[in-house]
Amino acid sequence: MKLKGTTQQKVIRICLLSASILALGSAMAQYEGSDPRQRRLPAVKPSDALLARIDAALPKPVTDEDFPPRDPAKEALGQVLFFDKILSGNKNIACATCHHPLAGTGDGLSLPVGEGGIGLSTTRSTGDETSRVSERVPRNAPHLFNIGAREFTKMFHDGRVEENADHPTGYSSPAGDDLPLGLDSALAAQALFPPTSGAEMAGHPGENPVADAAAAGNLAGPNGVWAQLAERVAAIPEYERLFSEAFDDVEGAEDITMTHVANAIAAFEAATFRADDTPFDRFLRGDLTAMSPRALMGMELFYGEAKCATCHKGTFLTDQGFHAAGMPQIGPGKGDNLPGYDDGLDDFGRERVTGDAADRFRFRTPALRNVALTGPWGHAGAYSDLRRVVEHQLDVAAALEAYDPNQAILPSDPNLDPFDFVVISDPARRAAIAATAEIEPLALDDEQIDAIVEFLHALTDSRFLDMRRIVPKEIPSGLPLAD
Ligand code: HEC
Ligand code: HEC
Repeated sequence: MKLKGTTQQKVIRICLLSASILALGSAMAQYEGSDPRQRRLPAVKPSDALLARIDAALPKPVTDEDFPPRDPAKEALGQVLFFDKILSGNKNIACATCHHPLAGTGDGLSLPVGEGGIGLSTTRSTGDETSRVSERVPRNAPHLFNIGAREFTKMFHDGRVEENADHPTGYSSPAGDDLPLGLDSALAAQALFPPTSGAEMAGHPGENPVADAAAAGNLAGPNGVWAQLAERVAAIPEYERLFSEAFDDVEGAEDITMTHVANAIAAFEAATFRADDTPFDRFLRGDLTAMSPRALMGMELFYGEAKCATCHKGTFLTDQGFHAAGMPQIGPGKGDNLPGYDDGLDDFGRERVTGDAADRFRFRTPALRNVALTGPWGHAGAYSDLRRVVEHQLDVAAALEAYDPNQAILPSDPNLDPFDFVVISDPARRAAIAATAEIEPLALDDEQIDAIVEFLHALTDSRFLDMRRIVPKEIPSGLPLAD
């Protein structure tokens, strides 16, 4: 049964829903006495009028049409490339290091430790004498769930890689006209950039020729970052075979380009991280018993009183727009400076892309499937408890004032630690962030907040509770798979 439909269908649906919620209410009564919080929970009997309101706000269920067509040969190739450190200058870090299936497709840290770091996720250190990192990566590594759906046409927290039909390459990006033609999607275009970043993957100038090219700004030229990496990959016979199988226009090693690499990685990401089998999805597809009473109550708040869906709306619970949610700024920032400051520790977000001061502190609304698996949260990973994120979204200024730095998950390093909490510890900078927030404070009680958190947990696709199947057994370069 579809939720959207004629008025008649809608009336039938509402009746069914009311009946099933009543049934859930009595099922819940049986639990009374076990959990004191459950006992205080008001019976879940939303009025028909409220249900009708929510129905209009609820997204349509995810379908195959929302995603590009599958391509198993490209996906298989993309999988090994995603895990292969060959794409980094010093051959010491892969895409997977920061987007690991064992860390919810992120890295479990507030801010990543890029090339030179040692270990995976919360055990990752800032390196040893031979390879100590000199800076933290300034933004949280985002999760990759549903990132390959067609409606995701803007990549990164600030959308700096973006589909743009008016641009000769088809995309606006930091590479301008240097971006190669033939990219399948913004997701594919995105994959070209991590290897060009010194801190993330390329390394420091003097350490390897890829880092030298990156430091010189030579991305697309002869001997540029992309040509060198394509050449490295093409020199491995197993890759030559995989690329020839995956791409009609690759007959031999000499045909392999970084565009093929990027398109294969995007095919892998889009297929592997599609997450749409959650209790919420089953509810949208007509199974009205799929969510717990508390999650249903949270859904009502999310789409109603708490106004979360002003921004977290649509099929993937994001409007794909940019908003100021006032998330705490921690870490080294992006080099921006509020008036009166020159330490570069601010991050102006979308303003960095548009140059428009109205976009200051705006970041892309994150998609929320599997959000319970993808902490720490926020563009700087400042929160490591999902309930605190919800509390933040209900009262930004109060949350900024109450921010507890102990929750940040940052491998300690004497050279990096001093910068981590400079912005969030400064009342004037906190006030500047709070002033832009597009969220009106709303006082909800503990049970209502619990209910919203429970709704967020109803966005978990249980197939992703264990993602070990996604890690390949070996990779063509023979480089170590472990970090
Ligand atoms: C050192 C850690 C690190 C490595 C290595 C890394 N990433 Fe990321 N990734 C990040 C961070 C941090 C961001 C967000 C940066 C920003 O928004 O400014 C990001 C953003 C992304 C996004 C955009 C997600 C979104 O929601 O917009 C995708 C997709 C992605 N990375 C894929 C990759 C791929 C593919 C590779 C390998 C070619 C890779 N990453 C390597 C840390 C990393
Ligand atoms: C004005 C638009 C807006 C409203 C309203 C809003 N959000 Fe958000 N939300 C955002 C943006 C933008 C971010 C990312 C901000 C950042 O990283 O700096 C975000 C981040 C989040 C995150 C963290 C996701 C991640 O991957 O890091 C969660 C969870 C979340 N919001 C839930 C909610 C809930 C629950 C509500 C309602 C109580 C809500 N939001 C209301 C725009 C909004």
